[in-house]
Amino acid sequence: MIEAFAPGKCILFGEHAVVYGHPAVAMAIDQGVHVSIKKSEEWRVGGEKFDPSKHPHISYILHEIFSYDGEPLDIKIESQLFSAAGLGSSAALSNAIGAALHKMIKPNEELDIVKLAKLGHSAEAAVQEGRASPTDTAASALGGCVVVSGEPVKGTEHIFDTELITPEGKRSWSIFKSALPEKKEGIWLILGFTGESSPTGKMVAGVADLLSRVPSKKNEMDAINEITIKGLDALSRGDFEAVGLAMDECHKHLRNLNVSSDSLDRLVEAVGPYSLGAKMTGAGGGGCMVAISRDPQRVSEQIEIAGGKPMISRIGSKGVKII
Ligand code: PMV
Repeated sequence: MIEAFAPGKCILFGEHAVVYGHPAVAMAIDQGVHVSIKKSEEWRVGGEKFDPSKHPHISYILHEIFSYDGEPLDIKIESQLFSAAGLGSSAALSNAIGAALHKMIKPNEELDIVKLAKLGHSAEAAVQEGRASPTDTAASALGGCVVVSGEPVKGTEHIFDTELITPEGKRSWSIFKSALPEKKEGIWLILGFTGESSPTGKMVAGVADLLSRVPSKKNEMDAINEITIKGLDALSRGDFEAVGLAMDECHKHLRNLNVSSDSLDRLVEAVGPYSLGAKMTGAGGGGCMVAISRDPQRVSEQIEIAGGKPMISRIGSKGVKII
């Protein structure tokens, strides 16, 4: 049996602005998707007969990427991530399946993480009508702190470039890694799930509509860009107080773009007294918020009291691994 694990992610800064060419900062989290694969008498996924329409990522990776025509496989999936919540659960699944299949089909070839990130991205794109940002798959494959941007970002290391033909034309991204400070013990990320799903396509379209109706809202994008650069700098210096302040600011601008929701605002407000900063994370309209804190238990309690589901992660978890 072959096993692999790939983490989920949260976006610390730059969601929505990244759609307009500004940088976004994503962090791998401790929770993710665990996959095990073994040869079997019949095709099974998650204990049931394999239905490719129910598991399009798996079907794409098996057939389009690996051209697999061997014995049937029994694939087990365990996810610790809230799904459709902006935590990158489908990217983590694609990466974990890709890593496990690589080990099974090419046992003597070392896993190329960049190739895997690109493979995961192409699976996401194939399933989402050609529209997918590489943020989730890159953060899940590389681990740590990943920056996605249209142009170079000071203080980061360039890892790879990627592009995609989307229904709106060709899109290109560069992926960078930002080093994290050695001293980060005692600092935690706490995710809070609203219980509502986060419709990425709808939220991105809503922002495009707002910008066309109210052109001055472009200032919000510019403000998010500046906060992202400052937040990233604070993160790399280990100044978590400044990271928290930048997160608080970022949330205000995301609210001004109408992408937060009452439930997200309620959770962000509830954790205020016990965290260094907090904001919605990802597309918004539901999904999750994220707080940075030295008191993760208290923040989790506050999230629960305010009606959310908490999850605690370290900062900068490792990327995909074959177990
Ligand atoms: O909620 P998520 O992880 O799908 O985040 C979407 C982030 C956006 O910036 C809103 C869209 C994108 O493609 O980057």
